Amino acid sequence: MDLNEYQQQVSHAVNSYLVDVIERLPEHAPQLKQAMRYALLIGGKRMRPFLTMACGEMIGLKAADLLGPAAAIEAIHAYSLIHDDLPAMDDDDLRRGQPTCHIKFDEATAILAGDALQTLAFEILCHCELSDKTQAKRIDLVKILSQAAGYSGMCGGQAMDLAATNQLIDQQQLESLHSKKTGALISACVSMVMALTDDVSTENNMHMQRYAQLIGLAFQVQDDILDVTSDSATLGKPQGSDQALNKSTYPALLGLEQAKAYLYDLHQQALQALHALPYNTQMLESFTDFIIQRKY
Ligand code: IPE
Ligand code: IPE
Ligand code: MG
Ligand code: MG
Ligand code: MG
Repeated sequence: MDLNEYQQQVSHAVNSYLVDVIERLPEHAPQLKQAMRYALLIGGKRMRPFLTMACGEMIGLKAADLLGPAAAIEAIHAYSLIHDDLPAMDDDDLRRGQPTCHIKFDEATAILAGDALQTLAFEILCHCELSDKTQAKRIDLVKILSQAAGYSGMCGGQAMDLAATNQLIDQQQLESLHSKKTGALISACVSMVMALTDDVSTENNMHMQRYAQLIGLAFQVQDDILDVTSDSATLGKPQGSDQALNKSTYPALLGLEQAKAYLYDLHQQALQALHALPYNTQMLESFTDFIIQRKY
């Protein structure tokens, strides 16, 4: 199976899982439910579910044990995007080629949809089907995702992003910011997979974690580059948003060419981390290329 086919397979499986979760919610707050559905199900590359499924299947875990964690991380991601687009944060009006959640609905509904998607992620982890072998690991999944989403991860990184706006920070500080705001959730995909198995050696676990850190950073560096080089129609979100807000990004700090060189370097290091593993890493290699070469 090639990357494209596997991406479609993962998107299909995760989307049906998430549709089912949303459909089962009762109807007492229909607008909130609609906003959750909108932010979660309309578009999105499903990169985090892909990484979760691809890593898990690579080490021999069953797809059925991976779907819950994959869906949970996507719910956290969708919430993070709703809040990221709010006027108090990046104040963007376009996401995935559609009006952002607060434009389509209203700010209060968007805030609540983000809140409810965050808790929905943990409901999914608490209730998802896990095989007898992995049942005992459920609490570890909750620990990993809560840490990656909160102060130590995405939320802390978003706060650093806001604090670094209109400021000059150095490359080490920018790396720390990016690793938290985007890297933490990407690393959590791999960490949740590793939590579900006892069969991966400490050394191989370290290579996997290093791979996740490298692609997490690379993912945000490419996001920063695309904000400069792409266009809103291709991105499905407003091009130039970082520049307009004077955000701390890699192109702003290093210049576009140096940012691209850094991305190339991260790409090579990520592939090296994969090559150190005793598994068939072909799918993850294609995924790594995709992250770096993607146009949106
Ligand atoms: C966008 O993430 C936000 C960042 C962390 C850079 P994605 O590029 O994965 O967004 P979707 O889910 O495909 O829309
Ligand atoms: C946001 O980074 C990362 C999140 C935690 C949502 P950006 O602000 O660069 O993401 P985009 O460019 O709006 O998707
Ligand atoms: Mg932002
Ligand atoms: Mg943004
Ligand atoms: Mg961005």
